[in-house]
Amino acid sequence: MPTALTETNLPRPARRGKVRDIYDLGDTLLLISTDRLSAFDVVLPTGIPERGVVLNELSRFWFQRLSGIVPHHFLAMGVDTPRVAPYVADLPMEVARRAMLVKKAEPVLVECIVRGYLAGSGWAEYRKHGTIGGRAAPDGLQESQRLETPLFTPTTKAAEGHDELITMEQTEELIGRDLARRLERLSQELYAAGHEYALGQGIIIADTKFEFGLLDGEVLLIDEALTPDSSRFWDAKTYGPGRAQDPLDKQFVRDYLDGTGWNKEPPGPELPPEIVQQTARRYRDVYQRLTGAPLP
Ligand SMILES: Nc1ncnc2c1ncn2[C@@H]1O[C@H](COP(=O)(O)OP(=O)(O)OP(=O)(O)O)[C@@H](O)[C@H]1O
Ligand SMILES: [Mg+2]
Repeated sequence: MPTALTETNLPRPARRGKVRDIYDLGDTLLLISTDRLSAFDVVLPTGIPERGVVLNELSRFWFQRLSGIVPHHFLAMGVDTPRVAPYVADLPMEVARRAMLVKKAEPVLVECIVRGYLAGSGWAEYRKHGTIGGRAAPDGLQESQRLETPLFTPTTKAAEGHDELITMEQTEELIGRDLARRLERLSQELYAAGHEYALGQGIIIADTKFEFGLLDGEVLLIDEALTPDSSRFWDAKTYGPGRAQDPLDKQFVRDYLDGTGWNKEPPGPELPPEIVQQTARRYRDVYQRLTGAPLP
Protein backbone atom coordinates (compact mmCIF):
# COMPACT_ATOMS: atom_id res chain seq x y z
CA MET A 1 0.00 0.00 0.00
CA PRO A 2 1.34 3.52 -0.78
CA THR A 3 2.15 5.76 2.19
CA ALA A 4 -0.21 8.58 3.12
CA LEU A 5 0.66 12.15 2.16
CA THR A 6 -0.15 14.38 5.12
CA GLU A 7 2.36 17.23 4.67
CA THR A 8 3.00 19.06 1.40
CA ASN A 9 6.12 20.93 2.58
CA LEU A 10 5.91 23.49 -0.20
CA PRO A 11 8.18 26.51 -0.24
CA ARG A 12 5.49 29.20 -0.24
CA PRO A 13 3.42 29.83 2.86
CA ALA A 14 0.09 28.06 2.76
CA ARG A 15 -3.17 28.29 4.57
CA ARG A 16 -3.88 24.90 5.93
CA GLY A 17 -7.41 23.58 6.28
CA LYS A 18 -8.05 20.34 8.08
CA VAL A 19 -7.64 18.42 4.83
CA ARG A 20 -6.40 20.85 2.15
CA ASP A 21 -3.28 22.94 1.83
CA ILE A 22 -4.17 26.13 0.01
CA TYR A 23 -1.85 28.24 -2.17
CA ASP A 24 -3.09 31.71 -3.03
CA LEU A 25 -2.16 32.56 -6.62
CA GLY A 26 -4.09 35.82 -6.86
CA ASP A 27 -7.29 35.20 -8.81
CA THR A 28 -6.94 31.48 -8.37
CA LEU A 29 -6.16 29.01 -5.62
CA LEU A 30 -4.19 25.80 -5.83
CA LEU A 31 -5.98 23.38 -3.51
CA ILE A 32 -3.98 20.34 -2.52
CA SER A 33 -6.07 17.57 -1.05
CA THR A 34 -3.76 15.77 1.33
CA ASP A 35 -4.45 12.34 2.83
CA ARG A 36 -5.14 13.91 6.23
CA LEU A 37 -8.41 12.87 7.84
CA SER A 38 -10.32 14.78 10.47
CA ALA A 39 -12.91 13.17 12.68
CA PHE A 40 -15.08 15.12 15.12
CA ASP A 41 -13.13 18.21 13.90
CA VAL A 42 -9.77 16.80 15.06
CA VAL A 43 -7.10 16.02 12.46
CA LEU A 44 -5.87 12.49 13.17
CA PRO A 45 -2.14 11.70 13.25
CA THR A 46 -2.65 8.87 10.73
CA GLY A 47 -3.43 9.63 7.08
CA ILE A 48 -5.34 7.38 4.66
CA PRO A 49 -3.22 6.58 1.56
CA GLU A 50 -4.65 8.08 -1.67
CA ARG A 51 -7.62 9.59 0.13
CA GLY A 52 -6.66 13.02 -1.21
CA VAL A 53 -6.57 11.67 -4.75
CA VAL A 54 -10.10 10.29 -4.34
CA LEU A 55 -11.42 13.56 -2.93
CA ASN A 56 -9.79 15.52 -5.75
CA GLU A 57 -10.85 13.27 -8.63
CA LEU A 58 -14.36 12.70 -7.33
CA SER A 59 -14.94 16.43 -6.80
CA ARG A 60 -13.87 17.10 -10.38
CA PHE A 61 -16.24 14.37 -11.58
CA TRP A 62 -19.18 15.93 -9.78
CA PHE A 63 -18.34 19.56 -10.61
CA GLN A 64 -18.46 18.68 -14.30
CA ARG A 65 -21.52 16.46 -14.00
CA LEU A 66 -23.53 19.01 -12.02
CA SER A 67 -22.44 22.13 -13.91
CA GLY A 68 -25.86 22.45 -15.52
CA ILE A 69 -27.29 23.28 -12.09
CA VAL A 70 -24.70 25.76 -10.85
CA PRO A 71 -21.28 26.96 -12.06
CA HIS A 72 -18.32 25.69 -10.02
CA HIS A 73 -14.83 26.85 -9.09
CA PHE A 74 -12.94 24.07 -10.91
CA LEU A 75 -10.47 25.26 -13.56
CA ALA A 76 -7.96 22.49 -14.12
CA MET A 77 -6.03 19.64 -12.63
CA GLY A 78 -3.54 17.03 -13.72
CA VAL A 79 0.21 17.48 -14.04
CA ASP A 80 0.04 17.56 -17.87
CA THR A 81 -2.49 20.37 -18.01
CA PRO A 82 -0.81 23.55 -19.34
CA ARG A 83 -2.78 25.68 -16.92
CA VAL A 84 -1.58 23.75 -13.88
CA ALA A 85 1.85 22.64 -15.04
CA PRO A 86 3.70 25.86 -14.13
CA TYR A 87 2.52 25.61 -10.53
CA VAL A 88 3.14 21.92 -10.04
CA ALA A 89 6.28 21.46 -12.15
CA ASP A 90 8.56 21.65 -9.14
CA LEU A 91 6.31 19.67 -6.84
CA PRO A 92 6.82 16.01 -6.07
CA MET A 93 4.44 13.88 -8.16
CA GLU A 94 2.64 12.75 -5.01
CA VAL A 95 1.72 16.38 -4.26
CA ALA A 96 1.00 17.36 -7.87
CA ARG A 97 -1.57 14.62 -8.38
CA ARG A 98 -3.55 15.92 -5.44
CA ALA A 99 -3.69 19.48 -6.79
CA MET A 100 -6.66 21.32 -8.28
CA LEU A 101 -6.62 24.84 -9.69
CA VAL A 102 -9.80 26.74 -8.81
CA LYS A 103 -11.28 30.20 -9.11
CA LYS A 104 -10.86 32.10 -5.86
CA ALA A 105 -14.24 33.11 -4.50
CA GLU A 106 -15.54 34.80 -1.39
CA PRO A 107 -16.79 31.83 0.67
CA VAL A 108 -20.36 32.11 1.96
CA LEU A 109 -19.99 31.38 5.66
CA VAL A 110 -22.73 28.76 5.86
CA GLU A 111 -22.40 25.02 5.29
CA CYS A 112 -25.28 23.84 3.13
CA ILE A 113 -26.30 20.40 4.35
CA VAL A 114 -29.00 18.32 2.70
CA ARG A 115 -30.33 15.18 4.36
CA GLY A 116 -32.23 12.64 2.30
CA TYR A 117 -32.12 9.90 4.96
CA LEU A 118 -32.22 9.98 8.75
CA ALA A 119 -28.70 9.35 10.06
CA GLY A 120 -25.87 10.77 12.11
CA SER A 121 -26.58 13.95 14.06
CA GLY A 122 -30.00 14.17 12.34
CA TRP A 123 -31.00 10.80 13.77
CA ALA A 124 -29.55 11.66 17.20
CA GLU A 125 -31.56 14.90 17.27
CA TYR A 126 -34.75 13.20 16.08
CA ARG A 127 -34.49 10.54 18.80
CA LYS A 128 -34.01 13.19 21.47
CA HIS A 129 -36.34 15.98 20.34
CA GLY A 130 -38.41 14.62 17.46
CA THR A 131 -37.01 17.33 15.16
CA ILE A 132 -34.46 17.26 12.33
CA GLY A 133 -32.24 20.32 12.00
CA GLY A 134 -34.66 22.12 14.34
CA ARG A 135 -37.56 21.49 11.95
CA ALA A 136 -40.71 19.54 12.80
CA ALA A 137 -40.62 15.94 11.55
CA PRO A 138 -43.27 13.21 11.34
CA ASP A 139 -43.59 10.70 14.20
CA GLY A 140 -42.35 7.15 13.97
CA LEU A 141 -39.35 7.60 11.68
CA GLN A 142 -36.71 4.89 11.83
CA GLU A 143 -32.93 5.13 11.77
CA SER A 144 -31.62 5.41 8.16
CA GLN A 145 -35.13 5.86 6.79
CA ARG A 146 -35.46 7.78 3.56
CA LEU A 147 -37.17 11.13 4.15
CA GLU A 148 -40.16 11.96 2.01
CA THR A 149 -38.57 15.28 1.10
CA PRO A 150 -34.84 15.89 1.63
CA LEU A 151 -34.24 18.51 4.33
CA PHE A 152 -31.94 21.52 4.06
CA THR A 153 -30.25 21.86 7.48
CA PRO A 154 -27.56 24.57 7.27
CA THR A 155 -24.87 25.18 9.87
CA THR A 156 -22.45 27.98 10.58
CA LYS A 157 -18.97 27.61 9.13
CA ALA A 158 -16.89 28.10 12.25
CA ALA A 159 -13.27 29.23 11.82
CA GLU A 160 -12.45 27.04 14.79
CA GLY A 161 -14.32 24.38 16.72
CA HIS A 162 -17.65 22.88 15.77
CA ASP A 163 -20.20 24.16 13.28
CA GLU A 164 -23.56 25.02 14.83
CA LEU A 165 -26.97 24.13 13.43
CA ILE A 166 -28.92 27.23 12.37
CA THR A 167 -32.53 27.76 11.36
CA MET A 168 -33.49 29.11 7.94
CA GLU A 169 -34.37 32.41 9.64
CA GLN A 170 -30.87 32.63 11.15
CA THR A 171 -29.39 31.75 7.78
CA GLU A 172 -31.34 34.57 6.17
CA GLU A 173 -30.10 36.96 8.85
CA LEU A 174 -26.51 35.85 8.30
CA ILE A 175 -26.27 35.96 4.51
CA GLY A 176 -29.45 37.69 3.36
CA ARG A 177 -32.82 36.34 2.40
CA ASP A 178 -32.34 36.00 -1.34
CA LEU A 179 -28.98 34.28 -1.09
CA ALA A 180 -30.20 31.92 1.65
CA ARG A 181 -33.17 30.81 -0.45
CA ARG A 182 -31.04 30.50 -3.56
CA LEU A 183 -28.51 28.28 -1.76
CA GLU A 184 -31.29 26.16 -0.33
CA ARG A 185 -32.75 25.60 -3.79
CA LEU A 186 -29.36 24.89 -5.37
CA SER A 187 -28.37 22.50 -2.57
CA GLN A 188 -31.63 20.60 -3.00
CA GLU A 189 -31.18 20.37 -6.78
CA LEU A 190 -27.55 19.26 -6.50
CA TYR A 191 -28.41 16.64 -3.91
CA ALA A 192 -31.35 15.31 -5.94
CA ALA A 193 -29.25 15.00 -9.11
CA GLY A 194 -26.31 13.43 -7.24
CA HIS A 195 -28.57 11.02 -5.36
CA GLU A 196 -30.32 9.86 -8.51
CA TYR A 197 -27.10 9.28 -10.43
CA ALA A 198 -25.36 7.52 -7.51
CA LEU A 199 -28.33 5.22 -6.93
CA GLY A 200 -27.96 4.01 -10.51
CA GLN A 201 -24.38 3.07 -9.57
CA GLY A 202 -25.56 1.19 -6.48
CA ILE A 203 -24.63 3.88 -3.95
CA ILE A 204 -26.98 5.80 -1.68
CA ILE A 205 -25.93 9.35 -0.85
CA ALA A 206 -27.70 9.68 2.49
CA ASP A 207 -26.69 13.27 3.16
CA THR A 208 -24.09 15.79 2.09
CA LYS A 209 -22.63 19.22 2.61
CA PHE A 210 -22.02 21.88 -0.06
CA GLU A 211 -20.08 25.12 0.17
CA PHE A 212 -20.72 28.07 -2.08
CA GLY A 213 -18.75 31.20 -2.89
CA LEU A 214 -19.41 34.51 -4.58
CA LEU A 215 -17.37 35.80 -7.52
CA ASP A 216 -18.32 38.89 -9.56
CA GLY A 217 -21.88 38.64 -8.28
CA GLU A 218 -22.17 35.02 -9.33
CA VAL A 219 -22.79 32.02 -7.03
CA LEU A 220 -20.19 29.25 -7.45
CA LEU A 221 -20.06 25.75 -6.02
CA ILE A 222 -16.67 25.64 -4.24
CA ASP A 223 -14.59 23.40 -1.98
CA GLU A 224 -15.42 19.73 -2.69
CA ALA A 225 -18.55 18.03 -4.00
CA LEU A 226 -20.28 14.79 -3.01
CA THR A 227 -17.16 13.06 -1.71
CA PRO A 228 -16.94 10.44 1.07
CA ASP A 229 -15.62 13.27 3.25
CA SER A 230 -18.55 15.62 2.77
CA SER A 231 -21.24 12.96 2.40
CA ARG A 232 -22.62 9.77 3.86
CA PHE A 233 -22.40 6.93 1.31
CA TRP A 234 -24.17 3.58 1.73
CA ASP A 235 -24.31 0.44 -0.36
CA ALA A 236 -27.74 0.32 -1.98
CA LYS A 237 -27.65 -3.52 -2.04
CA THR A 238 -27.34 -3.92 1.73
CA TYR A 239 -29.38 -0.86 2.71
CA GLY A 240 -32.30 -1.28 5.06
CA PRO A 241 -34.05 1.16 7.43
CA GLY A 242 -34.30 0.52 11.17
CA ARG A 243 -30.56 0.10 11.74
CA ALA A 244 -27.20 1.72 11.12
CA GLN A 245 -25.68 1.10 7.65
CA ASP A 246 -22.28 -0.19 6.64
CA PRO A 247 -20.55 3.12 5.88
CA LEU A 248 -18.55 3.58 2.66
CA ASP A 249 -17.27 6.94 3.86
CA LYS A 250 -15.50 8.61 6.75
CA GLN A 251 -18.14 7.23 9.12
CA PHE A 252 -16.17 3.99 9.05
CA VAL A 253 -13.38 5.76 10.97
CA ARG A 254 -15.81 7.55 13.28
CA ASP A 255 -17.39 4.19 14.18
CA TYR A 256 -13.95 2.76 14.98
CA LEU A 257 -13.09 5.82 17.11
CA ASP A 258 -16.41 5.57 18.98
CA GLY A 259 -15.31 2.14 20.13
CA THR A 260 -11.93 3.32 21.46
CA GLY A 261 -13.22 5.51 24.29
CA TRP A 262 -11.32 8.56 22.92
CA ASN A 263 -12.84 11.76 24.40
CA LYS A 264 -12.76 13.57 21.01
CA GLU A 265 -10.36 16.21 22.29
CA PRO A 266 -7.02 16.67 20.48
CA PRO A 267 -4.73 14.93 20.01
CA GLY A 268 -6.59 12.18 18.18
CA PRO A 269 -5.37 8.59 18.38
CA GLU A 270 -3.33 6.77 15.73
CA LEU A 271 -5.41 4.45 13.54
CA PRO A 272 -4.39 0.78 13.38
CA PRO A 273 -3.16 -0.50 9.99
CA GLU A 274 -6.26 -2.63 9.31
CA ILE A 275 -8.57 0.37 9.80
CA VAL A 276 -6.34 2.47 7.53
CA GLN A 277 -6.39 -0.25 4.86
CA GLN A 278 -10.11 -0.84 5.02
CA THR A 279 -10.82 2.90 4.88
CA ALA A 280 -8.49 3.33 1.89
CA ARG A 281 -10.23 0.45 0.13
CA ARG A 282 -13.67 1.92 0.77
CA TYR A 283 -12.60 5.28 -0.68
CA ARG A 284 -11.14 3.65 -3.80
CA ASP A 285 -14.22 1.43 -4.25
CA VAL A 286 -16.59 4.37 -3.97
CA TYR A 287 -14.60 6.22 -6.62
CA GLN A 288 -14.72 3.30 -9.00
CA ARG A 289 -18.39 2.59 -8.47
CA LEU A 290 -19.44 6.21 -8.91
CA THR A 291 -17.30 6.99 -11.95
CA GLY A 292 -17.09 3.53 -13.50
CA ALA A 293 -13.29 3.80 -13.75
CA PRO A 294 -10.46 2.82 -11.42
CA LEU A 295 -8.75 5.62 -9.49
CA PRO A 296 -6.20 7.27 -11.84
N1 LIG B 1 -12.92 28.45 -4.58
C1 LIG B 1 -12.67 28.75 -3.31
N2 LIG B 1 -12.44 30.03 -2.96
C2 LIG B 1 -12.17 30.35 -1.66
N3 LIG B 1 -12.09 29.46 -0.66
C3 LIG B 1 -12.29 28.17 -0.96
C4 LIG B 1 -12.59 27.75 -2.30
N4 LIG B 1 -12.76 26.41 -2.28
C5 LIG B 1 -12.58 26.01 -1.01
N5 LIG B 1 -12.30 27.05 -0.20
C6 LIG B 1 -12.00 27.01 1.23
O1 LIG B 1 -10.77 26.32 1.38
C7 LIG B 1 -10.79 25.48 2.53
C8 LIG B 1 -10.55 24.04 2.11
O2 LIG B 1 -9.75 23.38 3.02
P1 LIG B 1 -10.30 22.23 3.97
O3 LIG B 1 -11.43 21.52 3.32
O4 LIG B 1 -9.13 21.46 4.43
O5 LIG B 1 -10.82 23.14 5.11
P2 LIG B 1 -11.73 22.70 6.33
O6 LIG B 1 -10.93 22.19 7.41
O7 LIG B 1 -12.89 21.93 5.83
O8 LIG B 1 -12.27 24.13 6.69
P3 LIG B 1 -11.58 25.27 7.53
O9 LIG B 1 -10.92 26.22 6.55
O10 LIG B 1 -12.74 25.86 8.18
O11 LIG B 1 -10.60 24.62 8.47
C9 LIG B 1 -12.15 25.67 3.16
O12 LIG B 1 -12.06 26.66 4.18
C10 LIG B 1 -13.01 26.19 2.01
O13 LIG B 1 -14.08 26.97 2.45
MG1 LIG C 1 -13.41 21.01 4.09
